[in-house]
Amino acid sequence: MSRIDALIEDMTLAEKLGQLTMTAAGHTVTGPVIAGDSVDAIQAGTVGNLLNLIGADHVHAMQRLAVERSRLHIPVLFALDVTHGHRTLFPVSLAEASLFDPQAWALTAREAAREAAADGIAMTFAPMLDVARDPRWGRSVEGPGESPWVGARMAEAKVRGIQGDALGAADSLAAVAKHYCAYGAVTAGREYASVDLSERTLREVHLPPFEAAVRAGVAAIMPAFTALGGIPMTAHQGLIAGWLRKRLGFEGVVVSDYNAIAELIEHGVAADAAEAAALALRAGVDIDMMAGCYRNGLPVALSRGLVSLAEIDRAVHRVLTLKERLGLFDDPYRRGSSPESVATLARRRQIAREVAARAIVMLTNGARALPLGAAARTLALIGPLADASAEMRGPWWAAAGPEGHVTVLEGLRAALPGSEIRHAPGVAIEGGERGGIAPAVELCEGADAVILCLGEAAVMSGEAASRAHLDLPGEQRALAEAVLQRAHARGTPSIGVLFSGRPLVVPWLAERADALLAAWFLGSEAGHAVADVLTGRISPSGRTAVSWPRATGQIPIFHGERPTGRPADPANHYTSKYLDVPNEPLFPFGHGLTYGSFTLSALSVSPQTLRPGGVLAVRVEVANEGDRAAEETVFLFIHAQPASVSRPTLELKGVAKVRLQPGERGAVGFELPAEGLGCLGADLEPVLEPGEVEILVGPCAERRRLLRASIRVAQ
Ligand code: NOJ
Repeated sequence: MSRIDALIEDMTLAEKLGQLTMTAAGHTVTGPVIAGDSVDAIQAGTVGNLLNLIGADHVHAMQRLAVERSRLHIPVLFALDVTHGHRTLFPVSLAEASLFDPQAWALTAREAAREAAADGIAMTFAPMLDVARDPRWGRSVEGPGESPWVGARMAEAKVRGIQGDALGAADSLAAVAKHYCAYGAVTAGREYASVDLSERTLREVHLPPFEAAVRAGVAAIMPAFTALGGIPMTAHQGLIAGWLRKRLGFEGVVVSDYNAIAELIEHGVAADAAEAAALALRAGVDIDMMAGCYRNGLPVALSRGLVSLAEIDRAVHRVLTLKERLGLFDDPYRRGSSPESVATLARRRQIAREVAARAIVMLTNGARALPLGAAARTLALIGPLADASAEMRGPWWAAAGPEGHVTVLEGLRAALPGSEIRHAPGVAIEGGERGGIAPAVELCEGADAVILCLGEAAVMSGEAASRAHLDLPGEQRALAEAVLQRAHARGTPSIGVLFSGRPLVVPWLAERADALLAAWFLGSEAGHAVADVLTGRISPSGRTAVSWPRATGQIPIFHGERPTGRPADPANHYTSKYLDVPNEPLFPFGHGLTYGSFTLSALSVSPQTLRPGGVLAVRVEVANEGDRAAEETVFLFIHAQPASVSRPTLELKGVAKVRLQPGERGAVGFELPAEGLGCLGADLEPVLEPGEVEILVGPCAERRRLLRASIRVAQ
């Protein structure tokens, strides 16, 4: 008999339910405490999983209670939201998505996992894989952006990085892919609201990243808080027991979101904790995070015949198997027993700086205000985000305190020691106080360039952070307008640096600043990274993974829309368009400028006729006609028409990068299996239909900038 089967045979019902329970640690002045529970519960074996305990000493002390004092000596699983770093923070996911580089995504996940494991953590609630096309939703910041293709690549890379080569290694964590599924499609972008979408959109857009995570071997999955088509995901038999476990063969753990099982009552599908617990368990949820419904409700559900002991045992088996795979039974103290070296931490900081610089998207540089020239000896650095260490973290900062994250002021001072850098915040991020505007404007007098650091506070995106107005909060626009007016009057170059967890709706700023950078939230090395790009030490290479709207009324906005029977035509009133704003986003998916100047040419595709099992080769030449070395990003889209279903006008199928010196020519190539050109047919099953497929290659999702060729798919 296996160790796990033997344990289960020996366990009382209370001990079993303990393994299906996760509670949280809180912190008081005297140290960590288990909120709403007691240390006794760990010793009694009635709590088997704990979240939010920080620090290897605390984790080990708590672990000793379970391993040494509980009857069956089953180790506790310690989990934390390590989303974009643990103590060293990397850019938030939406910023990282701008790299379009799975190797970098895996690298930062690996480093974050190592750092968290060194703190005793064994599981992280990451990666977040929700495709998000509505920037009002604050959680857009945590995920891959608007493309399911990017979401799937990010899923693979992050799972690989978090889990490493072996789950049992001392520096590996169990990954939890979340939030399954379609959370990004909440009604009107409002947090926790219900979701209603077509089965086709679910399968084409929201499921692929989770499928990719499962194929990559993700250890666990978290259902979303939300209801999908009337069924709360925490109780969704069709999607958990059905799609996930049966269809994809997922054998790992499903862990509920925070209190989500109890919220089934609020959703209106359960009358009490026992019913809620039964619904979740029967759907396939193994761990109850923070609701207490499994511990308190399942015994009642058992007595009412709503669940069986066999169903409880199956869930316990999955949880214990995960603990075993993590090596917790063999050595529960393996994580957190050797502190990381100073050299490791320094190397990690270096990685954070490089990735942060690559995550910056240069949205405009019309007047070539960037990079700052050697003549820029006096800089006016204005705005509430210019010297804001804590904000650089973005939402979800795990164990990272508010201090020690390099600000733009610090970064610029370090990069330009011989320059005078004047600084004034001007206004606060939020609030109506305008008194600091006039002095900030005065600071610009005589400056060689003005840099405006504007945007959102870190907590204005992330969980429970939906916004209906996506312009700059507070009085920042008034500040920016006053500063830009003075800069224009004096002929001083002006640069905007936007910090935000979403694309902001700032067409006025894009028009009036000479250059504009999207800096998202870049993490611990933010200021160095921004300085690297401003000074030209690094040519920006980030490309936005979300469309930037011109107006909030364009939302949802994304590059993969389906055609309409009446495409927009300014000469025809009865076509698909707004009366007051163009259809196109201000900046399309994939947009981002560099300090080089690239042209694409000589697109070639072969074979001209592609059959099932074949591979399509696509190649395009790239030339850097600018005077600085830079990296170009090339996107491969397809459009298949006619087909048996109306397919999106652009479907992303590949991304390639090439770095070229001034005047240098190069090429990028893609290989696409024929099946990758297929779609879900009218019956929602994959099909490769014969017919013509357009191949479109270019620097972003703006159709008129794409080179085109076409091929035929034949049977
Ligand atoms: C709620 C969030 O929705 C989820 O993403 C997170 O992992 C849990 N809380 C735990 O902090």
